[in-house]
Amino acid sequence: MSKIRIAILISGRGSNMESLLQACTAPDFPAETAVVIANRPDAAGIAKAQGYGIQTSIVDHRQYVGRAAFEEALQETLLKHAPVDLVCLAGFMRILTADFVNQWQDRMINIHPSLLPDYKGLDTHARALADGRAETGCTVHYVIPAMDEGPVIVQKRVPILVGDTVDSLAARVLAEEHQAYPEAVRIVAARLSGLHRA
Ligand code: GAR
Repeated sequence: MSKIRIAILISGRGSNMESLLQACTAPDFPAETAVVIANRPDAAGIAKAQGYGIQTSIVDHRQYVGRAAFEEALQETLLKHAPVDLVCLAGFMRILTADFVNQWQDRMINIHPSLLPDYKGLDTHARALADGRAETGCTVHYVIPAMDEGPVIVQKRVPILVGDTVDSLAARVLAEEHQAYPEAVRIVAARLSGLHRA
């Protein structure tokens, strides 16, 4: 089986990254990791990735003046690890410009802790709780030049229970995120392999 090569972009803890790295250890998983890139030098996920023997790189956004210069460095880093078939944003907390996003059209995906289109942006769990929702969840979607929008690949629903706090809900949603992201990569890998054959 020929595997697609993914790049994983993180900003912090990297638990979704780790779920992908773990999935990639299975021989029948259709992807392997080319590189993990963090935009923050203190991202805890970098050490975790190194523990898996994965190549890592820091592109610190604070070292660049303006988004364009940062994204140029990001693109250079991605190309240094070519071929990269798919970019996976996994808790990557920088807004990307349309120019950057368009370079990776249909080849960049993101995970978000809500049932999009509900609760784009930050504090998703607090907002779902404040609204008295009965359920929330997570979404893996293609990235388009509009924040937290784009075609949905996988969604997982999570009930909101009496007594839930932001922390308890976040933990329950995160467990589903860790299932959803590898599932989504399988789906996109199948689509990309189909395209390669065409
Ligand atoms: C995850 O819950 C992810 O869905 C969220 O940040 C967390 C990162 O955790 N992403 C967003 O809110 C993006 N809009 P992780 O670093 O442990 O994967």
